[in-house]
Amino acid sequence: MRLDRFLSNLPRFNRKDVRLALVSGRIKVDGQVTSDPHHDVREFSRVAFDDEVLQAGKTARYFMLHKPQGYVSATVDAQHPTVLDLLDEPDKHELHIAGRLDFNTTGLMLITNDGQWSRRLTQPQTRLPKVYYVETEQLIDERYVEKFALGFYFAYENITTQPAVLTLLGPRCARLTIFEGRYHQVKRMFGHFDNKVLILHRESMGPLTLTPELEPGSYCALDDAQIQSI
Ligand code: URA
Repeated sequence: MRLDRFLSNLPRFNRKDVRLALVSGRIKVDGQVTSDPHHDVREFSRVAFDDEVLQAGKTARYFMLHKPQGYVSATVDAQHPTVLDLLDEPDKHELHIAGRLDFNTTGLMLITNDGQWSRRLTQPQTRLPKVYYVETEQLIDERYVEKFALGFYFAYENITTQPAVLTLLGPRCARLTIFEGRYHQVKRMFGHFDNKVLILHRESMGPLTLTPELEPGSYCALDDAQIQSI
């Protein structure tokens, strides 16, 4: 929300008070004097009028989890454990998953309470590369590499997938980079060849790579550089 709107929503300020408070340098956002009425105030922003705190600002939280098999990428599920069950954190209901994985898919999962940040990670326009290690039932050959580069038509969404990069690692395993995150995308791509995905593991999302020391089922908080990299 714009700073001037945030301030005028408070019962104590009318629009003239807001203008005056801003031009006289009495408003601070995150510790900085701010006179720009358009300045973006988020739920995480700390806003003060002189020394009086108008909004303390929530703490933004960002976690990297190594998702194991057999966990649902949801906040609640009646039948199965969810990835949130793996987090020992307060107010877990405020957290959400940035880029779901299927029940048996493993690997990098990002969890946060910052909706703007997770949108940057997941919206197709960002074209953020996601890298997966894949093992399949049938052989994978060079025809796959060409087809993945050309894209697959997904009738349900009426889209053709962005060119993807498939690197063969062995007769039945490959590394795949995709630039969007459609429902069951990787399985549907291999499904085009009637080839079942047996193992699927997400290694990275853009600049964020699963920390090698992170065992399946464990998690850590992201550091500032990781958060800012998105
Ligand atoms: N594509 C899939 O098919 N499944 C996943 O879990 C992730 C990407």
